[in-house]
Amino acid sequence: MQELLLHSPHDEARQGEAFSPQLPRAHSYQKHFYIESYGCAMNFADSEVVASILQESSIGATTNIEIADLILINTCSIREKAEERIRKRLTEFRRLKKQNPSLIIGILGCMAERLKGDLLEEEKLVDIVVGPDAYRTLPQLIEEAATGQKAVNVLLSREETYADISPIRLNSNGINAFVSIMRGCNNMCSFCVVPFTRGRERSRSAQSIIAECETLFNDGYREVTLLGQNVDSYHWIDESQKEIVNFAQLLEKVADISPLLRVRFSTSHPKDITDDVLFTMKKYDNICNYIHLPVQSGSSRVLQLMNRTYSREWYIAKVNRIREILPDCGLSTDMITGFCTETEEDHQASLSLMEYCKYDLAYMYFYSERPGTLAARRFEDDIPLETKKRRLQEMVDLHRQHSLQSMQRDVGKEFTVLVEGVSKKNNAELYGRNDQNKVVVFPALHFKKGDYVKVSIHACTAGTLIGTAIV
Ligand code: SAM
Ligand code: SF4
Ligand code: F3S
Repeated sequence: MQELLLHSPHDEARQGEAFSPQLPRAHSYQKHFYIESYGCAMNFADSEVVASILQESSIGATTNIEIADLILINTCSIREKAEERIRKRLTEFRRLKKQNPSLIIGILGCMAERLKGDLLEEEKLVDIVVGPDAYRTLPQLIEEAATGQKAVNVLLSREETYADISPIRLNSNGINAFVSIMRGCNNMCSFCVVPFTRGRERSRSAQSIIAECETLFNDGYREVTLLGQNVDSYHWIDESQKEIVNFAQLLEKVADISPLLRVRFSTSHPKDITDDVLFTMKKYDNICNYIHLPVQSGSSRVLQLMNRTYSREWYIAKVNRIREILPDCGLSTDMITGFCTETEEDHQASLSLMEYCKYDLAYMYFYSERPGTLAARRFEDDIPLETKKRRLQEMVDLHRQHSLQSMQRDVGKEFTVLVEGVSKKNNAELYGRNDQNKVVVFPALHFKKGDYVKVSIHACTAGTLIGTAIV
């Protein structure tokens, strides 16, 4: 799968990858929690909310699992493999629990929501199970667990957005931050477990989002990624101002904070992204020219079974519109191979769509049936695993050509790069990303993290543009 970029906005490569916190400063708490996060960027953002809630209750974060009083694992259910990895990780905690019987182990997030109390039966060493909308109750649940009881809260909410909580930035490089703008999802893509694990869609107040972004900017952050499963359906009614804020307007408000604050967002649903959003992106230099526009399949028949509510032609028209309004916009997608009834012809349609769109980045998966979803209830998971995997490999091979071509097209061009840190391979070099989300490496000279640097590209690898600063 793709290279792991810590601050990539919708890095599905993260699914199944764990991150433990790197903390901003030392704390002197009596009790400590250790948290690992799996899944999408929203889960990572949630772990930062959890850290804030626990710190308010005088439980500080630690990166040292051996000294933790509480181990939390923020889980993902999107595919079977994601859950398998979490179960495997849990078995590794057995040793710690044996050494320290008062150690509390909690499962948070989507797997907690999906399996609820059953998790306590299945995974005997788990003490706490908390769903994504119940994090405010964690301190009470921890108290209950400390008395030897098992504690569960998986209630979903129609209102909870954690708007008033200032996330504690874990894993932070001090430059990029995720900002949740909404929760849940009202779409019912037939393959997807998210509406069941995250509940109904709700938007967070525009004021609280802007306040969080302003604070981040004042603290030295230079890029925010606005997060939601379907950001284009953001909708906030501000009763006091008698104003309705849609996603294009929210983007504008965040971009207005400072021209030095880059704004990214993820994920856009093809049916909802509007011309207004595209024109707002065009109007503001600091809104990055990059759209993650998952298509899932290139076959209209399969798209219909997936309940994506658009056809191949409709999607292509949307891509054409993006290219017309934003000619240099980076474009990425998610694809699924081997969905129920998918024929070779459908698969070829997916490949030809990729050929047409020539994505800069693609996250590709083979279909994994999720219990309770529409597809699991209505259709047979009838494509043999070898076929799913073979089609996936063909797709990955094709995309590799496109992404390399996309990198090669940038050789000879100049980009403004926001510096994110010192290159891991060579500490005389810096790395950052351009507007289109591509990683750029160049000799450091006098530049430092947080600077915007004009870089001329003279070479590339499959994942990196290599250049020199124009001084
Ligand atoms: N909300 C986003 C959207 O509509 O595109 C994406 C949400 S999901 C967290 C990320 C990706 O996981 C999806 O775009 C899809 O490609 C993939 N995915 C979701 N359910 C899946 C399943 N059952 N099997 C394989 N891949 C799946
Ligand atoms: Fe899942 Fe579809 Fe919602 Fe994305 S839009 S989270 S794929 S149901
Ligand atoms: Fe996974 Fe839940 Fe995100 S299922 S992809 S962590 S919304």
